[in-house]
Amino acid sequence: MRTLPPPIRDDLAAAADPVVSTAGERSAAAAALLVLDAGDRPATDARLAEDVLASVDGGLAEDGHVVILGGGAPTPAELAMLRNRLWPVLHLSRIHRIAADGTVEREDHAGRTALDGRADPGPGWAVVATTRAYAMSPAVTAVKFDGKAAGWNGDPSSPAYGHFRWMRRLLADLAKPRPGEAVLDAGSGAGWVGLEAARKGARLSAFDPSPEMVRFVEQNAAALGVEVDARVGFMERPPFEGPFDLVLNSGVISFAPDPEVYLDGLDPLVAPGGRLVIGDLNPSSRGFRRRRAERPLLPCRELSGLTRDEMVRRLEARGYAVEWVRYYQNTYPFPELLHRTTSALVGWAILQWNRLSSALDAVLGARGEASFDSWIIGARKKENG
Ligand SMILES: C[S@@+](CC[C@H](N)C(=O)[O-])C[C@H]1O[C@@H](n2cnc3c(N)ncnc32)[C@H](O)[C@@H]1O
Repeated sequence: MRTLPPPIRDDLAAAADPVVSTAGERSAAAAALLVLDAGDRPATDARLAEDVLASVDGGLAEDGHVVILGGGAPTPAELAMLRNRLWPVLHLSRIHRIAADGTVEREDHAGRTALDGRADPGPGWAVVATTRAYAMSPAVTAVKFDGKAAGWNGDPSSPAYGHFRWMRRLLADLAKPRPGEAVLDAGSGAGWVGLEAARKGARLSAFDPSPEMVRFVEQNAAALGVEVDARVGFMERPPFEGPFDLVLNSGVISFAPDPEVYLDGLDPLVAPGGRLVIGDLNPSSRGFRRRRAERPLLPCRELSGLTRDEMVRRLEARGYAVEWVRYYQNTYPFPELLHRTTSALVGWAILQWNRLSSALDAVLGARGEASFDSWIIGARKKENG
């Protein structure tokens, strides 16, 4: 039976995961830690995942951690297979790789770091998982987005900035906000979708769980010279009563622990006869499928995102009439290129290609399911809803 090597134990005790150390005041990682030894079984052994899930069942605090220890050097794709088998109960947040000389490297969403100290000579591996419920909990979401708010505000000096703003403008343009209309940007991030509507004369309200994002919304509105009533809150308990003529909801539902509870919160915000424009990532795209197969560490939303068709079904079941659909944002390798490029010209060329292909897809009836990373749906709520 392997025990937790000191570098990994110290790494967890230091709660280097910023979310755990900030939001999980009661987490005391050691008290809620389950260490499971895979023995000689490879990470790809289906029964390993079954055994882990059986041990976790009822035996782990909601904000606890599971560490699975194994021997050998599994590939990222093999660890991704283990991740897929543990989802939707557990979510992988960190990997430790033990080298032949006992040095340990940690990989998390921030990158790779060599840890102090040594384990017994490897090769070996450990993966750290939290419950899905914890990883997608409101406290974690708010802390996570407070930390990422500047990134979601966009960096005007980045070659990707034109693309970043185009995606938000596209949503606001397709929503056709009218002057004087009451518009809500729900899960607004830094507010760019709603602010585009406000620039067209709409009366804008916005909310987001991250106070830092709400601060950006107010700052961006002031810089544009438009008014906004921006508040802190979650869709599941919205900080507005509404109803609004138009609700904009871009890239948010995949963060919801339960999409139906989320839609229960959203529905009363849309006025009878009013419009909902909702967009999110497309889990069926080539790029997202590839990431799920190749990368063991992914944001929860990439595992919980709904396809456009699933979303259409859920809206129709609630009595919405879907008026139009659209795919946008070319999939692999375009986002990866955009992320890496330092050239404004490459950024511009990718933006033009995205504009063109999304427009073409719209003309052909939004058929490019595998070619685009995002979808948008325009729906109208029934009059007597
Ligand atoms: C990917 S960003 C999108 C921001 C913005 N709508 C845009 O398109 O630029 C997701 C945002 O959703 C917010 N969020 C996450 N879960 C939420 C929930 N349950 N209710 C409302 N907002 C949520 C996050 O704080 C974050 O700002």
